[in-house]
Amino acid sequence: MTSATSMRTGLCGELGVDDVGTKVRLCGWVARRREHGEHLAFVDLRDRSGIVQCVVDGSVELRNEYVVAVSGVVRRRPEGMENPSLLTGEVEIGDCTVEVLAAAEPPPFHVEDRTDVDEAVRLRHRYVDLRRPRMQANLRLRAAVVSAIRRAMEREEFCEVETPLLWSPTPEGAREFAVPSRLHRGDFYVLPQSPQIAKQLLMVGGFDRYYQIARCLRDEDLRADRQFEFTQLDMEASFVTQDDVLGFVSEAVLDAAQCATGERPPPIERMTWAEALDRYGTDKPDLRIETELVDLGEAFGSTEVRALSAPSVKGLRIPGGGGTSRAGLDALGERARALGAKGLAWFRVAESDGATTLDSPLARVLSDAERDALVRVSAAAPGDLVLAVADDHRTACTVLGQLRVELGARPVGEGPHRYVWVVEFPLFETVSADGHPVPAHHPFTMPHPEDIDRMETDPLSVRSQAYDLVLNGWELGSGSVRIHRADIQARVFKALGISDEDAEARFGFLTGAFRFGAPPHAGFAFGIDRLVAVLAGEESIREVIAFPKTQSGADPLTGAPKPLPASSLAELGIRIVGG
Ligand code: AMO
Repeated sequence: MTSATSMRTGLCGELGVDDVGTKVRLCGWVARRREHGEHLAFVDLRDRSGIVQCVVDGSVELRNEYVVAVSGVVRRRPEGMENPSLLTGEVEIGDCTVEVLAAAEPPPFHVEDRTDVDEAVRLRHRYVDLRRPRMQANLRLRAAVVSAIRRAMEREEFCEVETPLLWSPTPEGAREFAVPSRLHRGDFYVLPQSPQIAKQLLMVGGFDRYYQIARCLRDEDLRADRQFEFTQLDMEASFVTQDDVLGFVSEAVLDAAQCATGERPPPIERMTWAEALDRYGTDKPDLRIETELVDLGEAFGSTEVRALSAPSVKGLRIPGGGGTSRAGLDALGERARALGAKGLAWFRVAESDGATTLDSPLARVLSDAERDALVRVSAAAPGDLVLAVADDHRTACTVLGQLRVELGARPVGEGPHRYVWVVEFPLFETVSADGHPVPAHHPFTMPHPEDIDRMETDPLSVRSQAYDLVLNGWELGSGSVRIHRADIQARVFKALGISDEDAEARFGFLTGAFRFGAPPHAGFAFGIDRLVAVLAGEESIREVIAFPKTQSGADPLTGAPKPLPASSLAELGIRIVGG
């Protein structure tokens, strides 16, 4: 056994009937003990592999979570005493002698897979929490996933390069953590929100296939899928197209999924951003939810009904939703308005005398043709509910897309894992108050070659060569083909309203490097925490991170963040004001 050491012969959880008769010495924590009078005690011993029952003749001075070494002989349990809920349930360790290696205070909660312990308590005593089988499995899964990713990247001849943690601001939009400099008082480093600039510099440096399991830091509000610190598979390659990058990343993700689930997911499908918006009302489609948005333009394109006359009318069929109460429908309407719609039309679909009927405040004002087209286009069947929003295309899609997710929501890690590439994101997201377009990714994203000439005249219609990978409605990662040509970069900066001086001050070290021979390059990064959470069936990335922060950004274990002693502040030249 490779798990044997000088102190133990092997692991608890691996013992079975094949080992009967073997003398063993096992080390671990006391999971449970039951005393039968003064002469017999049962001790469940736990290590990372599982639990085995040890039978001790005589009484023992043990408490839960004591660290012990147990020596004895593996034997079959007496007939009728087997425990099928335990992997080692057919055997036990007999003739035991127990040596206490370390005593333990009563744990703050039982070490078992119950989830009703308050998270703050779990994190305060994370070292106890980590003994739970679920946390053991999650972190081991994470290690296996990272290992599979490394193997995939190395197979494709990617070279791992470490990039600095003490860095300079990068133009990716998230708030950065600042680190005061002692030697340069008044100056600050920032912790990298990603290795974006560094990896592009590596391309200029001739590392044509770079990857890194990179720690990234962002000072943003925390959520189930967000921590201050997280880990990316970060990659970049030269002399490649978007297809090459999608190929490399798909391999790594599918390898990781295969190692976690034992099954290789099918090739990852692709859709354009425009299609994702049109069919799912979002750039992060959850393909586990079967229903899709439909275009009701055919039904209501020339309607007289005011509530339905708009540039775009989108519909969403909710299978079996026909029983929704008036109060439920009112709540949906309110939700739609909160999401930005002017209103929500609803149609409860039923059957009467073999004909499909619609129950809706609008039913009486629809023409027969409109009613028929609505039922046909939405493929509504009796018992369904059809929702419709009439608005500009984007609002109609996004409002119904959000309702689709809220009505069909499932925990992200539940059910099948549906990966999808979303490609051809718009280059610009919106136009800001000062009239300049706002980049959707970062300002080094290459415009789509077919659209580049509309950059000045119709910027919002310009597609980019940026792409996302989505899994069960979560954004797993993003990337793009980068601009490596000074003339295109200058046009994008100009469109964004970034002056030459400003560009020089903010990104000069990158654009300057490009003057020394920049290869065409493209890259991607995906969140390892998010991937592992879904693969582990968890809803929060905190469950797959050894020492995460709470939602409020605190670490209950160490008490961080904390004040610094006055002497440290003085050395850094920092005075705390206010507060
Ligand atoms: P982006 O900012 O989209 O792209 O980040 C890529 C992926 O990193 C993960 N991620 C996070 N995970 C946990 N907590 C967070 N706070 C957090 N923020 C991001 C997500 C996300 O999809 N440099 C570019 C990539 C590139 O263009 O190559 C970048 O970082 O899974």
